[in-house]
Amino acid sequence: MKMEHHLKSCTRNKNKLLTIIFITISFFTLFLVVVLFHIQYSSPFDFSLSARSQTRRASLFQENYSNVIEMMTAKLKHSVTFLPLQDFRFRETATTGHTWFMSSLNDTREENEAEYLYFPAKASKGRLLCFKGRDMKDGTKNSYALAWRESLPDSAILLEGLTFVSYTYYDHTNLWHGLCAVAPFVRWSMKNECLKPERWVLFHWGELRLRMGSWIQQLMQTNFGEVKVEGFDRGDNVPYCFERAVVMRHEMSQMGQENKLKTFELLRCKARSYCGINPAGKGREINERGFPIIRLTLLMRRGSRSFKNATVVTDIFSKECARVEGCILHVVQSDDLSFCDQVKVLTNTDIVASPHGAQLTNMLFMDRESSVMEFFPKGWLENAGVGQYAHHWMADQSGMKHQGAWWDPIGKDCPSPQDHLQCFLFHKDGMVGHNETYFAEWARRVIDQVRLSKVGQPSEDQAKQQHDSKACTC
Ligand SMILES: *[C@@H]1O[C@H](CO)[C@@H](O)[C@H](O)[C@H]1NC(C)=O
Ligand SMILES: *[C@@H]1O[C@H](CO)[C@@H](O)[C@H](O)[C@H]1NC(C)=O
Ligand SMILES: *[C@@H]1O[C@H](CO)[C@@H](O)[C@H](O)[C@H]1NC(C)=O
Ligand SMILES: *[C@@H]1O[C@H](CO)[C@@H](O)[C@H](O)[C@H]1NC(C)=O
Repeated sequence: MKMEHHLKSCTRNKNKLLTIIFITISFFTLFLVVVLFHIQYSSPFDFSLSARSQTRRASLFQENYSNVIEMMTAKLKHSVTFLPLQDFRFRETATTGHTWFMSSLNDTREENEAEYLYFPAKASKGRLLCFKGRDMKDGTKNSYALAWRESLPDSAILLEGLTFVSYTYYDHTNLWHGLCAVAPFVRWSMKNECLKPERWVLFHWGELRLRMGSWIQQLMQTNFGEVKVEGFDRGDNVPYCFERAVVMRHEMSQMGQENKLKTFELLRCKARSYCGINPAGKGREINERGFPIIRLTLLMRRGSRSFKNATVVTDIFSKECARVEGCILHVVQSDDLSFCDQVKVLTNTDIVASPHGAQLTNMLFMDRESSVMEFFPKGWLENAGVGQYAHHWMADQSGMKHQGAWWDPIGKDCPSPQDHLQCFLFHKDGMVGHNETYFAEWARRVIDQVRLSKVGQPSEDQAKQQHDSKACTC
């Protein structure tokens, strides 16, 4: 009974509890329904509203964004700053450390290579090189600037492909100075997949030049194919920008000896092949009696720095050559020779004897280790400065043996002996005399040395040397 009561009371309590739970659940359900209802009807409205406003904001932003780009591009276009190509602040150092050409820009330096500038590159922050002006008398009237391809200055003309920009303090028509100016491009190309330029731009100081000398141009043609010199002739003050450009403005000064030899080796080989000359077996040439052939060439000039008496000089060399079995003398007028004739004559020369002058640059086409003899008029030794040693340098750079020079001691005296410049100008274009005793002894010594080297190394063959120029195969 007690137990029953307890059970009953327990059941009654349970019933009460169930009721409370039911009410609570109902209440919460109702609350949930209301909340859900609220969410159902109000939140989609809120979401769509915020989504719509966001799209609107984005489109406003986009509109503004493209406006901003347009505005910034216009600003960039207008902020392209052209500076004078020739900077007179560096006039005094134009031939030494600094250059007054594109003075605000630093060169890229690599060990044993000529300094250069390349555009576009990291150093230019991806900007292209642009030029404006085509003055041929005043380099300060021509100018340069850097600009991003997307924001080139108004009316700029984009010149596609690779451009070689060659600067020289001297002259692109002279064989020696021209070669010094353009040789670094040959080396650069050897290092860069033998790239060839679409065009060349030439500057002397900041002044535009429209041509290189025909010898230089043909030499470049042997390696790069057609040479086009840009004249900027589509309007006077139009900016021209280059898709890619290499600028050389220091000649070969920082190029290592090995790299100079490689560069000239390639040019020698290219020129010979361009002119259809096959030097194979040349180093082994012997005459019918088995003596090695020694080819001695007198490379003559006309006018300034020619021999006063070419007949006598020819006779001296002829006599010395005749004393050595196998020696053959050729006398040629350098001014009469076409480019390929020059290549041919020098390819077939072991010893070149010539008055000082640009024609001696042709020594480049001789086999390595060939000999050079040079003659100067009176007054050069005392007044010409280091420039007179150009062909000593050329011999070193191209792998030849400079066998010394003769400076004529005889001639008119300079009227103002203290003034080296005046004296140099006085003697510059003088003619070269001779000293029979000296020339004969000298010629004998050099011919003998060459003979010995040919007997010593009879198998030294130019064809073998050629295989060394692997880069940009020839
Ligand atoms: C660019 O945005 C600003 C504010 O963000 C606004 O006042 C202006 O009207 C917008 N301009 C355009 C062209 O959309
Ligand atoms: C060029 O080099 C000099 C000296 O190293 C340096 O002071 C200058 O900031 C450089 N200029 C540029 C444009 O890099
Ligand atoms: C060259 O020298 C020879 C021998 O000394 C002489 O006979 C000849 O007249 C000279 N020629 C010239 C052009 O001076
Ligand atoms: C010519 O050369 C010889 C040999 O070097 C020398 O002894 C002589 O003094 C020179 N003659 C002249 C006139 O310079």
